[in-house]
Amino acid sequence: MKVTIVAVLTFFQLLVFVTSINVITDAGSVFMTVTWDKSTNKYKIQSNTANNWAAKAEFLNQINTTGWSYLDVTTNRDLPDDVQAYAAGLVEGYITSDLIKNHWINTIEGYCKQPFNPYCQRLLNFMKDNINYMNQFIKFMDSKNPYSAYTHQMKLFLLQVDGLRDGYYYDKEPPSGGNTDLDPFGFYYNNQWMVLDYKKFTPGQPIKSGTLTSYRTVTRLPRNWRLFCIIRKSEILAKLQHSVSSVIAIPKVFNMSGGPENVKKYGDWFSYDGSPRAKIFKRDQDKVVDLKSMIKLMRYNDFTNDPLSKCNCTPPYSAENAISARSDLNPASGTYPFQALGHRSHGGTDMKLTNKEMFQNLEFVAVSGPTYDQQPPFDWTKADFSKDCPHNGHPNVFKFNPVYFNSTSNVRPFYR
Ligand SMILES: *[C@@H]1O[C@H](CO)[C@@H](O)[C@H](O)[C@H]1NC(C)=O
Ligand SMILES: *[C@@H]1O[C@H](CO)[C@@H](O)[C@H](O)[C@H]1NC(C)=O
Ligand SMILES: *[C@@H]1O[C@H](CO)[C@@H](O)[C@H](O)[C@H]1NC(C)=O
Repeated sequence: MKVTIVAVLTFFQLLVFVTSINVITDAGSVFMTVTWDKSTNKYKIQSNTANNWAAKAEFLNQINTTGWSYLDVTTNRDLPDDVQAYAAGLVEGYITSDLIKNHWINTIEGYCKQPFNPYCQRLLNFMKDNINYMNQFIKFMDSKNPYSAYTHQMKLFLLQVDGLRDGYYYDKEPPSGGNTDLDPFGFYYNNQWMVLDYKKFTPGQPIKSGTLTSYRTVTRLPRNWRLFCIIRKSEILAKLQHSVSSVIAIPKVFNMSGGPENVKKYGDWFSYDGSPRAKIFKRDQDKVVDLKSMIKLMRYNDFTNDPLSKCNCTPPYSAENAISARSDLNPASGTYPFQALGHRSHGGTDMKLTNKEMFQNLEFVAVSGPTYDQQPPFDWTKADFSKDCPHNGHPNVFKFNPVYFNSTSNVRPFYR
């Protein structure tokens, strides 16, 4: 069988992995519909379907059994794009409001409290400027003819986020002006984005330029910006390794982020081709022959035995130096040349995988939670950081099998 696979590793703090809601304890799906009244331009969220539906959603929370909650949203293609985008956000914000709330509590609640310290004030101003800039840019482009598809998508994205916020607050207390934390929807967190253009890809053929485009947020800039949001675009010739190496691949962005200094100071760990993860991919990519072996590679972490996981550390290896990191397994008593190799609430939190064939049907395979292939499963009750790391809605133990997803009503196990 010939398969070509794309997979993405998610590297976030453990505290941002899958969250869930508390209200539904039974396994049933929840359905919601958003209707739009054209004459009044009013939206309504309801549990029964209606003729003038703009978006509908099915939601199923199986966090305790598969490690995932499933959501699928369908919009009515006969309606204007902006109505579809806003309605999609509205129904999602409403139907997943408990998840949103837990996620907010688990990640950034209390990060910036009023009265804001200077850093939080700068952050807020920056975010406002950024949104204003986007809105002005959209207005400006809107006034042009022809108006760009890119800007149109930007506009739809912002409308969808507005809908998400309004859906979240639908029949709840609205945020009370002066005395709240930063608006959760002010954080459009981003990190590294990849756009894969499957049209340009033919199995067995060399990869064409433009197949994979990578965008990277710059996390260090001169002057006083500690947090930044410049997004640089760069076309790169795709290497499979690219999508999974967490080291910045875009030379200019690498430079701006202080990459060369780090390489000088600490060595190859900080370079794109020389990091342990890149080396493991290089060594093991030939072992991938089908979906199962790809999952295995993406979940691989044998840090106590793999020579590529070694470091100048005590003990002499790090669980960060693997395809799917498990920094929780590094002993807190260890010694490490830099923090990233040490004991932290950090690691690969899941795996998602698709290939050309599955992609045509919007299907993918996913495994929730940190890897447990060569290691014990992650368990909140055993993690020493669990007190400082809110994890509302999480199961205690993340030991889940892969699932095959194409829609909430059709999700099924993927046998490995
Ligand atoms: C998952 O299990 C926890 C602990 O037993 C429970 O509190 C929670 O309601 C469950 N979540 C769902 C969505 O079933
Ligand atoms: C990175 O910066 C250095 C000096 O700051 C410069 O010499 C080099 O050309 C830059 N490389 C890239 C790819 O921008
Ligand atoms: C998902 O797969 C099932 C069975 O393979 C198929 O009948 C269904 O149409 C698919 N659903 C979507 C949304 O593609």
